[in-house]
Amino acid sequence: MPQENQTIEGLDPAVTLAQAAGLAEHLQRIGVQWLPVADPDSAAALAEQLRFADGGSPEQGSEPASELASAPPAVSPPTAPPAAAPPPATAAVAGSAGAVPPSPAGTAPAFSLQSDSADPTEPYPGPSLAPDARAAELAKCSEQVAACTRCEILSQCRTKTVFGEGNVAPRVVFFGEGPGREEDLSGRPFVGKAGQLLTKMIGACKFAREDVYIMNTVKCRPPNNRNPEPTEIENCREFFQAQFEILRPEYIVCLGLVSAQALLCTKLSVGRLRGKFHQYFDSKVLVTYHPSYLLRNPAAKKAAWDDLQLMLRDAGLM
Ligand code: URA
Repeated sequence: MPQENQTIEGLDPAVTLAQAAGLAEHLQRIGVQWLPVADPDSAAALAEQLRFADGGSPEQGSEPASELASAPPAVSPPTAPPAAAPPPATAAVAGSAGAVPPSPAGTAPAFSLQSDSADPTEPYPGPSLAPDARAAELAKCSEQVAACTRCEILSQCRTKTVFGEGNVAPRVVFFGEGPGREEDLSGRPFVGKAGQLLTKMIGACKFAREDVYIMNTVKCRPPNNRNPEPTEIENCREFFQAQFEILRPEYIVCLGLVSAQALLCTKLSVGRLRGKFHQYFDSKVLVTYHPSYLLRNPAAKKAAWDDLQLMLRDAGLM
């Protein structure tokens, strides 16, 4: 911690304060109680204490905290709120997997899901759960996924459902498309060739797989690794929404088109979506190329690394 009037060279006060506020918000979300509330007053107090300034200039050091606290890169709100999507249990959706059967009485989700009808430009609804409670809610949700037969084809073809795994209080969730062969056999996300590359990408961010949470849009392997049908994505929406509502990560990294379009309810391409933050409740969403695409197009790795660096800089990790 710098002493009063001490300068920290190379640090932009606005960026540093925004990062500190973001980290404080994340820690509060995951239930850390001792941090000051990440509001403008706290940011002002922090600014005053640290006197971050180029050359210790009092003008810059005393910049209004409310502006400093709102300095993170612009975040695009979702173009169409997921709340507009019909809940899977009652939706009648066209597609090869057929309409979603209504939930039989007594099979309502065991996990509580509030984000289904909430506005994704607002903070996540309801209280943030302590890690033990998160693990318990995720376990209930995972049991429901394992028993799910909403998609006739996928539920008949799958070996195992692939729910997701990792830190239940993560700063970052990596959000893929759907299980491939290795994942279907093992029940774990991203363990095949694409998974090995994802593990390297996570390592390049100086994280271990255990530090982050890894999950997919659909929880069952589409036959022959075809893309999931829109109906199949809608059938799984309730599950991935519940996962995000429980996990409340600071960042969601959408890997490829399927997860990005599903989460942000958009038809835009990865090329149009990448390079900036989007919003899903109070998670910042970054879109980048899917590791499978990167294996086929190694020249795109640089762009993917640029995307990850955007997040790391925003998170104060580089
Ligand atoms: N591709 C994905 O999108 N997810 C996996 O789990 C594996 C490969």
